[in-house]
Amino acid sequence: MTTKLTILCDNYAGRPFGVVGEHGFACFIETGSGNVLFDTGQGMGIAGNAAALGKDLASVQAVAISHGHYDHTGGLPQVLKHTGPVPVFGHPGIFASRSWSHGSAGRYIGMRHRQEYLASLGARFHLTREPVEIIPGVHLSGEIPRKTDFERPDANMTLHSEGAADVCPDPIADDLSVVVDAEKGLILVLGCAHAGLINIINHVLETFGRQRIYAIIGGTHLGFSGPDQFEETLNAIDRYGIEKVGVSHCTGLEKASRLHAHLGERFFFGGVGAELEG
Ligand SMILES: [Fe+2]
Ligand SMILES: [Fe+2]
Repeated sequence: MTTKLTILCDNYAGRPFGVVGEHGFACFIETGSGNVLFDTGQGMGIAGNAAALGKDLASVQAVAISHGHYDHTGGLPQVLKHTGPVPVFGHPGIFASRSWSHGSAGRYIGMRHRQEYLASLGARFHLTREPVEIIPGVHLSGEIPRKTDFERPDANMTLHSEGAADVCPDPIADDLSVVVDAEKGLILVLGCAHAGLINIINHVLETFGRQRIYAIIGGTHLGFSGPDQFEETLNAIDRYGIEKVGVSHCTGLEKASRLHAHLGERFFFGGVGAELEG
């Protein structure tokens, strides 16, 4: 069976009927070994979008969480209603308390549901910093070493240490990606790429002992990158010879348009309903 990925939640709805956009991300992954759901959006679109796109959430054998932000995890209760008891893979840091601020604006952006509540709905958490095989051929990347000098943490995001009044910059160490070993090659699925797209690509190539990645899909966080980081990232994508690049969510329309202009036919918009086969 051909591997097929379908975007279930994104900021933009790319289909004319029955789906909604929301600030968030979720991707339905179908393989010959079974189905995996990577992220859940913030909870407004996942169930309806899955139904409209003909993806049965009850068929999901495992859920993977990219990181503990509300826009990737808020749909977990709806998903668990369909799946019943199911393994949920992620990093041990996903339940950290964290916020976003910019000037006088700010708000809480950590997970909206407690681990105990989600466990009561059927989530069987497997939280690890190491690479892990979720189902045969589908892996979670493990913690991403931050090595490039041009990919820096988002300065507007802060972490609240437990019991402490003060906050510190949030490195989002829990940021993980999914890697699918498909017929055409490795497919890298990004949640928000807080670890830096190039750091993630390098880690995946090293971890899987491969020369190249066939396709990338998901949130790149390039919408928040400065000119240097964006240019360096474009150059790196060219160097790595990636054949398909589908951007979603935190890429933003401006950076997505520039990627489209640069990559031509290798590019596609990863809105709700976008598909990638591999
Ligand atoms: Fe996000
Ligand atoms: Fe995020």
